[in-house]
Amino acid sequence: MNNFTYRNPTKILFGKGQIENLATEIPANSKVLMLYGGGSIKKNGIYEQVKTALADFTVLEFGGIPANPEYSVLLDALKIIKEEKIDYLLAVGGGSVIDGTKFLSAAALHEGETPWNILTDKKPITKGLPFATVLTLPATGSEMNSGSVITRAETQEKLAFGGPGMFPVFSILDPEVIKSIPQRQLANGIADAFTHVMEQYMTYPIGALLQDRFAESIMQTLVEVAPAIMKDPTDYQAASNFMWSCTMALNGLIQQGVPGDWAVHMMGHELTAMYGIDHARTLAILAGNHYRYNFETKKEKLAQYAERVWNVTEGSLEDKANAGIEKTDEFFKSLGIDIKLSDYTKDYEGTGSNVAKRFTERGWEGLGEHKSLKPSDAQKIIEMSY
Ligand code: NZQ
Ligand code: ZN
Repeated sequence: MNNFTYRNPTKILFGKGQIENLATEIPANSKVLMLYGGGSIKKNGIYEQVKTALADFTVLEFGGIPANPEYSVLLDALKIIKEEKIDYLLAVGGGSVIDGTKFLSAAALHEGETPWNILTDKKPITKGLPFATVLTLPATGSEMNSGSVITRAETQEKLAFGGPGMFPVFSILDPEVIKSIPQRQLANGIADAFTHVMEQYMTYPIGALLQDRFAESIMQTLVEVAPAIMKDPTDYQAASNFMWSCTMALNGLIQQGVPGDWAVHMMGHELTAMYGIDHARTLAILAGNHYRYNFETKKEKLAQYAERVWNVTEGSLEDKANAGIEKTDEFFKSLGIDIKLSDYTKDYEGTGSNVAKRFTERGWEGLGEHKSLKPSDAQKIIEMSY
């Protein structure tokens, strides 16, 4: 096992009715900016619950943060934060609203020339305006991690940043919010969380028995609850297991002491930036082919995954590893997710070389757990995924 230092300061309030506790968690006399997305919270009652809980606070609002939080929209919110001297941010939404809020938290205290530098500087962010979240869509784990991904339409970029200053102070996880999530987003949430676990697990054996079993148990739980949650998002038992699995998939715990890959995400972000494909779907397009392409270096973990998550018992190590890849593709398809780029755009020719060019320009010469996946390899994986 590798050495590690682990700290996760985010307080979690989990369960029915927890939104009421907002008032006791946010410091009295805070001037709060409540941030949300395109309006789902106004249709499903979450907006009312939050406003009621915050009745005794000064609350300003900023709605309209789009899926794949857009830089230019966030700059409008930043203006309000500065003009109104906001001192506490509250994200009410999914990964996009939470990531946008993290950016604003950092941008509010940023001293550089332009806040876009937060995305390009590659410096860990150590301080930000305090912020909390009310999660409305289980998927990204952003509610309990310190990462964020911001999109800039003008330049078709989608870049990540983060750091120890970017953990939410607290997050409210009420599984009842899942009731109103459309099928497409439920499928996205399951696929995104599942891939988060794979990115931290599908590398090479390092003797981290507990981390492996944590990872496998999250994947098993997602596989087990997926049919129930897709069939009936009001099933509280399934919803609560789904929600906590998504948080645990990317709150840092399972990645301690083990190598991480993340190349599927790095390539996937480019597909979202270029074609607007939902984040989770880009991962489903690429994951299987990433594992096929890197079969030799990943086959031990692929076989272990096939055995423990999918109960594959027959055949050689290679047979099991291949079965694990097939099972993964089938799982995504069972959620109604198409796994070829050409299912999403007719304009796919040249995507591989375009992404390779972008990676080269950014100096991303070696991705993956061995830092050996070159831009030309990314090109081939994307071409396999047309
Ligand atoms: O905008 P509204 O109207 O609220 O609708 C949203 C949005 O259209 C809707 N929705 C959310 N909660 C709902 C609901 N609809 C009905 N009922 C509810 N309770 O769902 C749509 C998608 O929301 P979004 O926040 O975009 O989804 P998700 O949580 O999947 O977040 C995706 C973003 O997170 C980034 C992705 O790249 C993408 O930009 N990621 C962030 C990560 C992180 N910070 O750690 C890691 C991930 O790998 C990922 O990259
Ligand atoms: Zn993801």
